[in-house]
Order: sequence, then C-alpha cells, then structure tokens
Amino acid sequence: MQLFLDTASIDEVRAAAKYGVISGVTTNPSLLAKEGGVSYKQRIIEIADVIDGPISAECVTRTADDLVAEARVLASWHPNVVVKIPIDEQGLEAIYRCTREGIRINTTLIFSPNQALLAALAGASFLSPFVGRIDDISGDGMELIQQCVQIVETHNLGARVLAASLRHPLHVAQAAMAGAHIATIPG
Ligand code: E4P
Repeated sequence: MQLFLDTASIDEVRAAAKYGVISGVTTNPSLLAKEGGVSYKQRIIEIADVIDGPISAECVTRTADDLVAEARVLASWHPNVVVKIPIDEQGLEAIYRCTREGIRINTTLIFSPNQALLAALAGASFLSPFVGRIDDISGDGMELIQQCVQIVETHNLGARVLAASLRHPLHVAQAAMAGAHIATIPG
C-alpha cells in the first residue's frame, strides 16, 4: 500500500516528504480554504515540485459539461494532476468523458460498492471510498474498502482503491490489511 498525504499545506507536504514514504497528495477545496488565500493552481504546482507522484485537485462544479471543462483546466496545471470528481450521475458521465481525453480521475465521495464499480468501468484511475464519514453514521467504512478491493481485483478493472477520510492510525493499518492500494493520510 502506498501513502498519500491529504493536505493543501505546503509545509506539511515538505515535512512529510523528507521521510520518503509519501507517494502522492490529495487536496480538496476545504483543505485549500485553510491556506490563507493562495490560489489552487499555485499550491498544486508547489506541491508537485516536492512530491513526484499523483496530486489530486478537486472539481467544484456539478453538471457533466461543467465538470469536464473544469477538469481540463485542473489537468492543465501539471502533468501529475489527477482530477477529483464526485460519483453521482453527472460525475459518472464526466468521468467517462474525461478519461477518454486522457485526463486521470480520482472518483471521490464513494459510499457504496456499486459506485466504485461504476466509476472503475467508466475509466477512473483511483476510487476514493470515504471510510471516516461512513463510520460517522454508524456504518463500517473499512468493510467498504474490502468490497472495493475485491471488486477491482476480481474483475481486473485497473482502478486503484484509495482509502480516504481516514481519521486515526488504526484506519491506516486496517486499510493496508484490507488490501487498499493507497491510503491518504490527514496532514
Ligand atoms: C480525500 O481525498 C478526501 O477529500 C478526504 O480524505 C476527506 O476527509 P474527511 O472526511 O475527513 O473530510
């Protein structure tokens, strides 16, 4: 299992990078909002200068047409950008259209195995089940990680399961034991 860092803080990225265990970074608009007005583009480029791996940048639009247009902009910032698109009906269409253009997609806000299956079939490179938010509503977020890994590996779908919304170290160990390909660690 690889470790990504879940942050928009360049200080946190630099601090973690020195150990050689971080292979990528995931960001979202909430994380960027904590960064005091730096532009999203500037911060993604700064992060990409430190970590040579996938850097997720998230769309904030909601229709398929708008998501595709926004994804093109985000992907233009750096070759390592992976665009995060939420898995709803509009998002699924956008995922398919973007992947046909060669834009790599991290499907975010996955809460069920079928959402993961659909995103993988549409061509997403990364599937992000939200472990902590499922736990928050009395579900078993780690069971969803196991289900997504089983689906992807049974059917050779090519997507990688990225355990997201992790809240504590036990989640990380459990994600590794469940076969997650990546865990993104809060900064
Ligand atoms: C990562 O891609 C997600 O945006 C992040 O892990 C969400 O975490 P949260 O549920 O703690 O907000």
